Amino acid sequence: MKVTVVGAGNVGATVANVIAHKDIVKEVVLLDLIGDMARGKALDSWQQAPIDYYSTRLTGTENYDDTAGSDIVVITAGIPRKPGMSRDDLISTNAKIVTSVVGSILSKSDNPIIIIVSNPLDVMTYAAHAASGFDSTRVFGMAGILDTSRYRAFLATELNVSPKDIQALLLGGHGDTMVPLPRYTTVAGIPLTELLAADKIEAIVQRTKKGGGELVKLIGTSAWYAPGAAAAQMVEAIVKNENRIYPCCVKMEGQYGLNDVYLGVPVKLNKNGIGDVIEVGLNKDELALLHNSADHVKKVMNTFDSMNL
Ligand code: NAI
Ligand code: 2OP
Repeated sequence: MKVTVVGAGNVGATVANVIAHKDIVKEVVLLDLIGDMARGKALDSWQQAPIDYYSTRLTGTENYDDTAGSDIVVITAGIPRKPGMSRDDLISTNAKIVTSVVGSILSKSDNPIIIIVSNPLDVMTYAAHAASGFDSTRVFGMAGILDTSRYRAFLATELNVSPKDIQALLLGGHGDTMVPLPRYTTVAGIPLTELLAADKIEAIVQRTKKGGGELVKLIGTSAWYAPGAAAAQMVEAIVKNENRIYPCCVKMEGQYGLNDVYLGVPVKLNKNGIGDVIEVGLNKDELALLHNSADHVKKVMNTFDSMNL
């Protein structure tokens, strides 16, 4: 199988490197406007193969001819935020980039599954889906795995347990309105609510919602290790046809009482992309938070629409 990663910056290079480490595809192409950077990072990752034992061949390019016949494309092209910026501030630049990247990709590959990473994530997924003309099961976004992972990591620290034992669910847009669900969080099968006081859980929920911003403040740009690993995990589920259940950003078509908005919800991921969207029971408060998140994403979708790209 062939995977193309567009954008060879912090996240894109990490996605390519983590996919190669999984040794699950024949070829990864890393494409960037800055071809030498893509070539250099791909070469560096390829030179890691004899040390870390993988056969996946990595190459870098600025030329879409080299992406021909891709089965999966991960789009990370675009600008990241700087301290003080929200993800939504990126829309005017990134919408044009994502729309043009999808067009260039589809001029060389017939029917790839497309995973969006560029921000503002939910709206860039909308933009990519519109540009592709594909069924929405083949164009979706990465954010929920990352946000859930941040939530799980904070809980592992607080409880002093291995993050491996924390299972959790988080819904909604990739922004401060995201909806972590303590009611659907367990630690080795034990409900979180039996292990941690409500005020401590609430503090972790709030920290998770601002988890991306915490890193932007510390680093001066946005994060890449966990985001890159999260996108690579989605690629793995598709390549292995695993039917893994992950929160991904997809077009809502009536689920959770929502329509025509792109939002993070649990889905089954397999070789066709999105299998089923899973609807979990939500209480009144949780549903209100999810609808609030959807309203926020819709506003930014309207901004995209008014750009008339
Ligand atoms: P970066 O600045 O390190 O890399 C972006 C790369 O995109 C640059 O190398 C740039 O040359 C390239 N690029 C720009 N326009 C292009 C085009 N038209 N064609 C090909 N390449 C192009 O940024 P970083 O940190 O890798 O972030 C990338 C995007 O991912 C940002 O929008 C960021 O906000 C987003 N992000 C999303 C996350 C999520 O959870 N969905 C998590 C982390 C980042
Ligand atoms: C993150 O959450 C900025 O979306 C990026 O790290």
